Amino acid sequence: MPREITALPGEVGLPILGHTLAWLNDPIGLPTRLRAQHGDVFVHHLLFARPVVFAHPDAIGQIFADEGAALSTAAGWRPFFGRVLPGGLLLRDHEDHRHHRGLMQAAFSQAALRAHVQVMNARIEPALEAWSEGGSGPQTRLAVPSFRQLTLDLAGALFLGAELGADLPRLTQSFERVAEGVAGVIPWNLPGTALWRGLRARASLVAYLRALIPSRRAAPTPDLFGQLCQAVNESGERYTDEELINHVLFMWMAAHDTTTGSLVMMAYELARDAEWQERLRAEANTLGPNLPYERLGEARETEQVVNEVLRLYPPVGSVPRVTNRETSLGGVRLPPNTPIRASILLAQRHPAFWSDPARFDPDRFSEARAEHRRHRHSFRPFGGGAHTCMGLRFATLQMKAVILPLLRRFRLNLPPGYVLRIKPTPSFRPADDLPLLLTPLNAG
Ligand code: HEM
Repeated sequence: MPREITALPGEVGLPILGHTLAWLNDPIGLPTRLRAQHGDVFVHHLLFARPVVFAHPDAIGQIFADEGAALSTAAGWRPFFGRVLPGGLLLRDHEDHRHHRGLMQAAFSQAALRAHVQVMNARIEPALEAWSEGGSGPQTRLAVPSFRQLTLDLAGALFLGAELGADLPRLTQSFERVAEGVAGVIPWNLPGTALWRGLRARASLVAYLRALIPSRRAAPTPDLFGQLCQAVNESGERYTDEELINHVLFMWMAAHDTTTGSLVMMAYELARDAEWQERLRAEANTLGPNLPYERLGEARETEQVVNEVLRLYPPVGSVPRVTNRETSLGGVRLPPNTPIRASILLAQRHPAFWSDPARFDPDRFSEARAEHRRHRHSFRPFGGGAHTCMGLRFATLQMKAVILPLLRRFRLNLPPGYVLRIKPTPSFRPADDLPLLLTPLNAG
């Protein structure tokens, strides 16, 4: 017999705010404690919702599979993206989602990724060169704004086209306002709020992109927007102008904070683990500079570190869904309109599937240990099922393409006595932006 939702354990925290403040303060410790105390399914109260949280990989697999189409992804994500970034793939369900996603596949083909790596390499080296301008001694650099600037610059060129040149900084600035609008806590569109600024910035980006569409439709370009403008399915269907704009803006958002957060957390872990930093530097020096798509695949130890960082600090820590009719999940009967969360974070730190789960230990992803194969759904940083991340390969390539040249150029250290405090939004990252000590090395 499935359990009733009213019989589930859990905590609701403070009146109105629930656990929101505690979560903002300790976004990894709080859910870890709740799971340890209440088990693999519990209820809590966060960001004005009272979701049922599922932490066991079995239930997470069930949520991603969504057999019988009982879950709405759009209803889950609407409170986060609905106002500023409508129409993206996560705001679409079932048949409508399949149609929109199908049209997008070609933009993520191997040929497209190969071209993207070339564009990335051409921009990463000069950006890191500029990081060396402080001279030959150690210098402190705030990791979050530095990596954010770099990923924004890359995304501008990859998504809209490097040839937009002088317009790109202005466009990425508008995009940052859009991203702040998504993350804003005040839900009303009042002058001066992040939402208000975000919507204005969105309007200016929409106007710019709309003007670009005729030329991108007339002649193919390798950037993502250009690829989407060319996209056509077997029935000859294409995206409308409105849909094209919505998709590229949503994609930009999906790519930007997730990659920035992962790069920052990777720099943090490498800065405090001299042995792994050296192992990756040795790999970087063996492989050499400006690695094309195929050769990035050879960076195996770097891949283990990327995986371990995505396991410990999954940028999308929990995936929201809402039941659209009565259904059963993880042995619980859920009525219609129940908000639920698949906790990627908790599955990836689940003590039944990972040894010493809180420890940074990239060798757990080695062929010899392969802890990630203990359960099909215990390692799901990119989600699963119909909504699996479109940018999965893109993201890992980008992380490798940045970290390898960075380690060839610099030794990374933390300030003496540094204590990490994590904040949860827009994705896990150090609350103080991480003051990283960079010492230039000789390799160029
Ligand atoms: C480390 C980086 C990234 C992580 C951890 C990540 C994670 C995820 C996750 C967990 C989902 C599924 C959400 C759900 O099921 O509700 C998702 C969806 C998505 N991601 Fe990523 N993502 C990353 C980077 C990217 C990049 C670089 C792009 C684009 C180039 C991208 C584009 C998308 C899109 C379009 C979706 C929606 C797919 C759909 O609804 O069919 N992501 N991502």
